Amino acid sequence: MNTPLIIALDFARKLEVFKFLEHFQGEKLFLKVGMELFYQEGPAIIYELKEKEHRIFLDLKLHDIPNTVKSAMKGLARLGCDLVNVHAAGGKEMMMAALEGLEAGTISGNNRPACIAVTQLTSTSEEQMKKEQLIGVSLEESVLHYASLAKESGLEGVVCSTHEAAMIRKSVGGSFCIVTPGIRLIEDDIQDQKRVSTPEFARKNGATAIVVGRSITRSKEPFESYQTIKKQWEGVLV
Ligand code: C5P
Repeated sequence: MNTPLIIALDFARKLEVFKFLEHFQGEKLFLKVGMELFYQEGPAIIYELKEKEHRIFLDLKLHDIPNTVKSAMKGLARLGCDLVNVHAAGGKEMMMAALEGLEAGTISGNNRPACIAVTQLTSTSEEQMKKEQLIGVSLEESVLHYASLAKESGLEGVVCSTHEAAMIRKSVGGSFCIVTPGIRLIEDDIQDQKRVSTPEFARKNGATAIVVGRSITRSKEPFESYQTIKKQWEGVLV
């Protein structure tokens, strides 16, 4: 998957998406389609974005009984996305079922979409996790546990905050994808996120991809913000 900067297309309608993408004429991007957009526009939005040769992370964070997740993944694999995800909290059996579904649904000659697991959302604080999920260990331990579970299930990686990336890299080894949202430039507002950091911090801590939403999508100059973040992420001196 190399080390992409993934732009979170957190828009409700495709009109807004294509207006936003006008800022990136000619660029082949890695785009994240989440619930907001997919639930409004359906599979057609994936086909339209793929037609323009963008790579797609379909971020629907599946979490259900294994059989339902397997069937849902079978359908999603047919869309030809590059990356999909589940919640690790759904358990090992569910994660393995997700992979089976993806294998079954991948059109012959295409690559199976990579599948990663959400550990703890970057909007969750340790206090919240303990109080609301009744998890007694530290946030780091919980994230590490979910990462090991995802690896044992055969998944290609995890979604976590940059603050846990180095620890996961050390524990699960080299080829595991570590995708980190919650990215902000120093001058940005953190909004609803709790565990945020800069692109440079993500790189130094072993992340393999960053997901950036509002710092680019709500920027007055999206392409310039994209370039600044990309340079920091790739370690290019500015
Ligand atoms: O606007 P912002 O950069 O905070 O957007 C982050 C994106 O990453 C959102 O689309 C959000 O759904 C997603 N995400 C996250 N935390 C996770 C998994 C996904 O923020 N653990």
